[in-house]
Amino acid sequence: MASVELRNVSKAYGEVAVIHDISVEIQDGEFVALVGPSGCGKSTLLRMIAGLEDITDGDVAIADKVVNELTPRERNIAMVFQSYALYPHMTVAENMGFNLKLAGKTREEVSRQVAQAAQMLDLTGLLERKPSQLSGGQRQRVAMGRAIVRDPAVFLFDEPLSNLDAKLRVQMRSEIKMLHQRVGTTSIYVTHDQVEAMTLADRIVVLNAGMIEQVGTPLELYRQPANLFVAGFIGSPAMNFLEAVIEPAKGDARSARLEDGTSIRLHPGSRVEPGLEVTLGLRPEHLSPGKRKDLSGRIRMIEPTGAQTHVTFELSGRPLTAIVDGSFPVTLDTPFNAAVAPDQVHVFDRSTGLSLR
Ligand SMILES: Nc1ncnc2c1ncn2[C@@H]1O[C@H](COP(=O)(O)OP(=O)(O)O)[C@@H](O)[C@H]1O
Ligand SMILES: [Mg+2]
Repeated sequence: MASVELRNVSKAYGEVAVIHDISVEIQDGEFVALVGPSGCGKSTLLRMIAGLEDITDGDVAIADKVVNELTPRERNIAMVFQSYALYPHMTVAENMGFNLKLAGKTREEVSRQVAQAAQMLDLTGLLERKPSQLSGGQRQRVAMGRAIVRDPAVFLFDEPLSNLDAKLRVQMRSEIKMLHQRVGTTSIYVTHDQVEAMTLADRIVVLNAGMIEQVGTPLELYRQPANLFVAGFIGSPAMNFLEAVIEPAKGDARSARLEDGTSIRLHPGSRVEPGLEVTLGLRPEHLSPGKRKDLSGRIRMIEPTGAQTHVTFELSGRPLTAIVDGSFPVTLDTPFNAAVAPDQVHVFDRSTGLSLR
C-alpha cells in the first residue's frame, strides 16, 4: 500500500490546457473519489497517475517517490476501466492470472493467487468459464480480480460501473466498498456520479473544468459546500437556488428578501452585509411541509419514489423541489407550504459564487 501525492500537476494537449495546477495528498489506505461532469479532466488525471499520459507540469509521487518518469508497470498500480477488456479465448482463471504469468510467477503461485482473489470476489465456481459465458456484472468482477491478483500498491478505477444496469451498479458498488474495507489498498475512483462518490469514498475531490472546486469527506461537501458549483453538484435531487438581497440586520438576526418580497431567516453566523446580492441554496429534503409558510407555491408536479415523494412547486414563476414522506398527501395544483430552518439555508455571494457560511 502507498500514499499518492499530486503536486501542482497540469496537463495540456498542445495549446489546450485541460488540467490546471492540481495538488492533492491521498493517504495510505484511503479511498478517494474524483468526481465532476463529463469532460472535466478526471480520466486525464487518473491516466497521469497511472503513467498512461505524460505530465506537462508538476509531480506525481507514489509512496513519497516521484514517478513522473516511470512506466505504468514500474508504478505498481492496477487499473480497472469501464470496458472490461477480457481476453475472449481465455478462461476466467487464465484472464486473472495472465499478468502474473507474464511477470514470471510459477504455475503454483499463479493458481494460488488466482484462487485467493476468486474467493474474495465470489468467482470460484466460474474459473473455467469463458467471458462470453458470464453476465456483465461477473465480467466486471473478473476485471477487478485481474487487478487484485497483482496485489498493487494503488487501485485506480475509471468509471468501472457505467456499463452495468442500475441494480447491478448498486450491488457492485457495495462489493467494491466491502473489498476496500477488507484489503485496505489505497484507491482512486473516477466517476461522474455523485451518489457513487458519496457512498464509496472516504474523501471526494470535486473537479470542474480541470480545476479543484473542493476536497472533503462526503458529509463535509454535503453540509458545507464551498461554492455554488459543489452545492449544485452534490445531492439529489439537486439543491434549489433562489436569488435574494440581504435585509438590514435586527440584532443578531440575519435575513434575506426574495424577489417576491418573501423574507427568509438565515443562520446568524452568515457573513453577510445588508444590500448584498446573494443566492440562497435550499436542499429539497430541507423544505418540509408545515404550518409555517416560509415558502408557498402551487404544486406543479408530483413524483412518487415510494418511501418519499418529490414535489415540484412554483414560487413566483420558479420551480422548487421539495421531498416529502411518501405517505404525505399532495395534490396537483393545490398550495404547498414549506417551512425553512435558518441553519439549513446556504448563502452564496452572487458575484463570486462562494459560500458565506
Ligand atoms: N488526447 C487528447 N487530445 C486533446 N484533448 C484531449 C485528449 N484527451 C482528452 N482531451 C480533452 O481533455 C478534457 C478532459 O477529458 P477527460 O479527462 O477524458 O474528461 P472526463 O474523464 O472528466 O470526462 C476534455 O475536454 C477532452 O476533450
Ligand atoms: Mg473519463
